[in-house]
Amino acid sequence: MITVYFVRIASDGARHETAVQTRPGRSLMDAASDAGLDGIAADCGGLLTCATCHVTVNEDWTEQLPPASNDEQAMLEFTAVLRHKNSRLSCQIQLTPALNGLSVQLPTTQY
Ligand code: FES
Repeated sequence: MITVYFVRIASDGARHETAVQTRPGRSLMDAASDAGLDGIAADCGGLLTCATCHVTVNEDWTEQLPPASNDEQAMLEFTAVLRHKNSRLSCQIQLTPALNGLSVQLPTTQY
């Protein structure tokens, strides 16, 4: 199993971290959906047409992810919250054992 961490920063600045376990081959979006996690809407179900699965990847992990495709880069222009340099669409991140411990931050909104 792989454990990934979803971090949410509350309006008062408090940091809330949720650990989610999943198996290799699932996407980061799938992991969030399977766990019933709030904050990843994923309206298109991973078809790369909605940008409501936006996350910001912890800087410690950015080098370990494959780069975003041109299509993902284009869709990142449509995130509800301004994209960051570490922004990714979680449906495009396929989890492997090498990503055990991956940490991402959820945006304040997906709409
Ligand atoms: Fe729609 Fe990721 S779920 S782009």
